[in-house]
This record gives sequence, C-alpha cells and structure tokens, in this order.
Amino acid sequence: MQLDAAQLSHPDIYRILIGSIAPRPIAWVGSRSKDGINNLAPFSFYNCFSSKPPIIGFSSIPRSDGRNKDTLQNILDTRVFTLNTASYALVQQMSKSAATLEPQEDEFTYAGLEPMQAPHINAPYVKEALLVFECTLHDVISFGNEPGSGNLILGEIRHILIDDSIYQDGRIDFLKLDPVGRLAGPWYSTIRDKFEVDRG
Ligand SMILES: Cc1cc2nc3c(=O)[nH]c(=O)nc-3n(C[C@H](O)[C@H](O)[C@H](O)COP(=O)(O)O)c2cc1C
Repeated sequence: MQLDAAQLSHPDIYRILIGSIAPRPIAWVGSRSKDGINNLAPFSFYNCFSSKPPIIGFSSIPRSDGRNKDTLQNILDTRVFTLNTASYALVQQMSKSAATLEPQEDEFTYAGLEPMQAPHINAPYVKEALLVFECTLHDVISFGNEPGSGNLILGEIRHILIDDSIYQDGRIDFLKLDPVGRLAGPWYSTIRDKFEVDRG
C-alpha cells in the first residue's frame, strides 16, 4: 500500500504519525500567563536538537476551535517555560494536566500538583519532578493555519534542577528517573525493558 500524505485528512495522518513515531518522550511544560496564572501541559511531539547551546523543541497544535493552546500563548507572552520530566510515579497527574481548561484555570491545582517557583525564570515547575529544565524561548516555527498545523517551540535550557538521587558522576540514572513515553491513544511505555548493543 502507498499513501499520498497530502491526500490524508488530519486525523488520518495524525494516527499514522503517533502509531509509527513511538515511543515519544514527553515535555511536561510549566508556564505562566501574563496575568500570573500557572499552566501545565504535556507535549509528546518533543526532542532535543543541539547540546551546545542546549536546544529542545516541542510542538503545540492549535485547539479544535483554532485558538492557541495556553502553553504556546504563555510562552509567546513571557518567553520562558519549565520542562518537567514525567516519571512513571507522576503519570496519572501528567495525564490529568492535559485537560482542556480555559486560560484562567490552573492545571497544577486541577491535577493535584504543587507548583514551585523556578529559581531563575518567571515560570512554575512540578515540585515532585526529579528533573526540570528552565528554558528561554529561542524561536517559534509555525507550519500553517490548518487544523493540525504545529507550532514548533524551540527553547534553550538555561538551568537544570536535578534531584540528587538520580545524578552521579555527571550522569543521569535513567532507571531511577523512570520517564514514560507516549505511544498512541491511551498507551504509554516505560524504559524498563532496556537492552545493550555494542557500538560498531
Ligand atoms: C501524553 C500527551 C502528549 C500530548 N502531546 C501533545 C503535543 O505534542 N502537542 C499538542 O499540541 N498537544 C499535545 N497533547 C495535548 C495537550 O496536552 C492538551 O491539548 C492540553 O490541554 C494543552 O494545554 P494548554 O492549553 O494549557 O497548553 C498531549 C496530551 C498528552 C496526554
């Protein structure tokens, strides 16, 4: 079978993307509106693209009514955000924080999480998260105005908050970090089923 991507509807191409690009890491993004309302939401169109400078990117697809998601709007307004690791222990709260709330509503409260003030930027982070990146906005690349057109938010990591329990000899103990990945629909994965491959 061959499919012409341009002929596929948004739901059809979306289902192919999320089923094939998997597992995807999750950017659990803390931001603040210009009115001071805390916001938290997960994004799995996410990865890192440069280590010096350290650049990460995630993509916000508009709400079904065409409005920007609160995360994108807040970052456009404040130019900062936190990126919290969603460990397995926090997966229920992470999922709850994806609820479509209005800009004046706070997902930290809704998901039963405690917001902490980031030390260096005007944004909240998840107190229980074992690893948090404090980021400044580098750029936003928009891919159009159709339903499903992403807005790629590129951020530079400025400070890293690491729980001592997961950091030793300059390395992150990823088993203790225990991040979850997104598959499709309600499915997630852990990294517990890991294996080694010698290089070369
Ligand atoms: C695990 C997970 C991953 C998600 N990934 C994305 C994504 O990559 N892009 C996106 O626009 N929405 C994604 N969503 C949906 C947003 O989290 C959801 O629309 C949320 O309400 C946005 O919140 P905001 O308006 O406060 O920014 C994801 C949801 C979940 C549960």
